[in-house]
Amino acid sequence: MQTKKLRGKVALVTGASRGLGRAIALALGQAGADVALTDILIEGQEQDLGKLGRYSVLAGHFAQSGEVNTLLGAREIQFMGSRSCAFKMDVADLDEVGRVVHMIETELGPIDILVNNAAVMDNLGKFEDQQPERWQRDLNVNLTGAYHCSKAVWPGMVKKGWGRIINISSVAGLMGASLQPSYGATKAGLIGLSKSLAIEAGRYGITVNTVCPGFIATEAVQLYDERMTERIAKRTVLKRMGQPEEVAHVVAFLASDGAAYITGAVIPVTGGIDLLTL
Ligand SMILES: NC(=O)c1ccc[n+]([C@@H]2O[C@H](COP(=O)([O-])OP(=O)(O)OC[C@H]3O[C@@H](n4cnc5c(N)ncnc54)[C@H](O)[C@@H]3O)[C@@H](O)[C@H]2O)c1
Repeated sequence: MQTKKLRGKVALVTGASRGLGRAIALALGQAGADVALTDILIEGQEQDLGKLGRYSVLAGHFAQSGEVNTLLGAREIQFMGSRSCAFKMDVADLDEVGRVVHMIETELGPIDILVNNAAVMDNLGKFEDQQPERWQRDLNVNLTGAYHCSKAVWPGMVKKGWGRIINISSVAGLMGASLQPSYGATKAGLIGLSKSLAIEAGRYGITVNTVCPGFIATEAVQLYDERMTERIAKRTVLKRMGQPEEVAHVVAFLASDGAAYITGAVIPVTGGIDLLTL
């Protein structure tokens, strides 16, 4: 029987409409936490598809295809017996983050666990073709977004003397990313943010850790060319892509009391793609 190690804890997961964010939200719910799912995409809510598509190719694609499961995730968690809610929240918008965190805390109580998962990863291209606007967007969402959310939950965690901040970086933050300089830079930046916050957070009973997934078969990654995903799978030691649940379980562990002595850690969940094989 699954033990409810996170019962009584309130979690906020960003970018939870699909993929890793959705899997992480469900894993935290499964472990007994009350979970707030947030995203720029919520099913049934009016979206300016043109504007969204210009902002992010992936956001436009998934909004148009209807593969948005933020509210569904909240319902699934309620069905597991935990409280759950879903809110539209753009992590790049400091005011919106403040407003939504307040609404979540009113509904579920003070946030104990923050998972900074939201990211954009569609800025692919040669450096000479890279646009400064996209560089800035990637910084705003992937790195400043985590800063905004951490800042919003920090006072509550300090007050409680307990907290977990888990940042979803990437193997790209460890090794660089081919044709994705802005993505690689933001993911490396998250590691620096996590370690620096971890140093300050310790005295308040807050841990801050980073998880670095390798290639995980989320809906977004499945849009890649099949030959490319096969090539990537072959480069791993385990000879396969990872599953979203294989990352989500690590996050749920880091959120638990079992991980109380882990802070400032950078944990690769990569199937060994980052190992030197000869
Ligand atoms: N899938 C992989 O192979 C992989 C590998 C390494 C790291 N990661 C990291 O894992 C996380 C999730 O990856 P994924 O594959 O599920 O990607 P994804 O694109 O499917 O999911 C990202 C989610 O973030 C949301 N989002 C985008 N911009 C936002 C914003 N401004 N505010 C709030 N939400 C926003 C999207 O709507 C989406 O739901 C990301 O941080 C990504 O960098 C993924």
